[in-house]
Amino acid sequence: MEKLYIEGGEKMYGEMDMYAAKNALLPLLACSIMADGKSTFKNCPNIEDVKNMLLIMESLGCTCNFENGSIYSEPTAESSCLIEEDLAKTLRSSIFLMGSILGRYKKVKIAYPGGCDIGLRPINLHIEGLKALNVKIHEEAGYIICDGSNMKGGIVNFDVPSVGATENIMMAATLSKGTTIIKNAAREPEIIDLQNYINKMGGNVRGAGRSYIVIEGVKKLRSCEYTPIADRIVAGTYMLGCAMTGGEIQINNVNFEHIYSLIAKLRETTCKIHVKGDKIVIKAPKQPLAMKYIKTSPYPGFPTDLQAQVMTMMTVSKGVAIIEENMFEMRFRHISELIKMGADITVSGKTAVVSGVKKLQGAGVTAYDLRGGSALCLAGLVAEGTTVISDLWHIDRGYESIENELANFGVKIQRKR
Ligand code: UD1
Repeated sequence: MEKLYIEGGEKMYGEMDMYAAKNALLPLLACSIMADGKSTFKNCPNIEDVKNMLLIMESLGCTCNFENGSIYSEPTAESSCLIEEDLAKTLRSSIFLMGSILGRYKKVKIAYPGGCDIGLRPINLHIEGLKALNVKIHEEAGYIICDGSNMKGGIVNFDVPSVGATENIMMAATLSKGTTIIKNAAREPEIIDLQNYINKMGGNVRGAGRSYIVIEGVKKLRSCEYTPIADRIVAGTYMLGCAMTGGEIQINNVNFEHIYSLIAKLRETTCKIHVKGDKIVIKAPKQPLAMKYIKTSPYPGFPTDLQAQVMTMMTVSKGVAIIEENMFEMRFRHISELIKMGADITVSGKTAVVSGVKKLQGAGVTAYDLRGGSALCLAGLVAEGTTVISDLWHIDRGYESIENELANFGVKIQRKR
């Protein structure tokens, strides 16, 4: 089993061009099934979640190719419309295929999805939303079986603004007759990206970015070339690494508005952040101040996907930070590992109190999920001695060769057995 070995003590310096966001690209790939002809996606990261998505699409009859950061995919006229358990379990985003397969082929049979083990992650909102579009759904031996032969537009009212459920309904509704309205829709930038993609293919969606989305069904979509938005979470991860090492880095090709909640918090810590067009430069002080209170919430609030990394920064910041995780109940699994490295963290329910210490100590630690794993890499940057991280497959799901990216920023890091 490969592990990451990090020698702490280096400041992060350098520059990086950001690649497309995993959370934008995965639903777009699913959506490409709805268009005739060959779709092209540019600036794609070579990460496990993307590779697994392509495997699932191939099992559905699509022809997929991934070369030099570009993905080409072309669906077939007929498909099995079946996603077997072993494939569905490889990533949670297999759930997006429910909406797009239904849109195109009007039926789907899919095993319950997998993904990060960060809590319950129910799919009730996806199911209720599709039912509102007149899809008949039943469950049988671990499979969800959907009949969309009488699909039509409807009104979907989410109890909670779910990113995945909003995207699923946008896709299914695009190839359904009539108008669909999504109320209390999620407002993440990735949802605006999906709207832009669908409209580029000839669909008719408006309102994304607000909580009220209107989709007018169309008969057909045509394939196109598309460059998804950049990965705000990967950008945020490296900004936090820079902030805690006292370095200075520049990230290119990123929309600062997408991570404004992080930028505002980093400014509280006395980090200097300059935005020049699509470039962000961050210059960190010797020891940043603690952010007082961080509370994860749906966009434009502070993203749950940066909670573990921000907590790691707080372990070595000056003062006490209170961090509240409101999105997923098992998203504190990195804490036991940070404590092994000398962090001072106490937890009560969904709240963690982090008191900054002068230094962390290198230790053998385990990545339990994707973002928690990247947070342990950040901890390694400021630890005395060597940090050894195992179960890297979690990190590889969402970071394109994290060791090369960090090494380019001057970090002493190696992947070896
Ligand atoms: C997406 C992101 C993930 C991010 C999360 C929250 C992708 C591929 N993944 O996940 O990285 O951490 O948004 O920003 O884009 N919920 C229900 N019922 C449902 C669906 C969700 O109760 O049917 C709840 C969840 O338990 C959670 C909240 O809604 O508390 C938000 O989850 P959701 O937005 O659906 O997350 P994902 O789309 O799975």
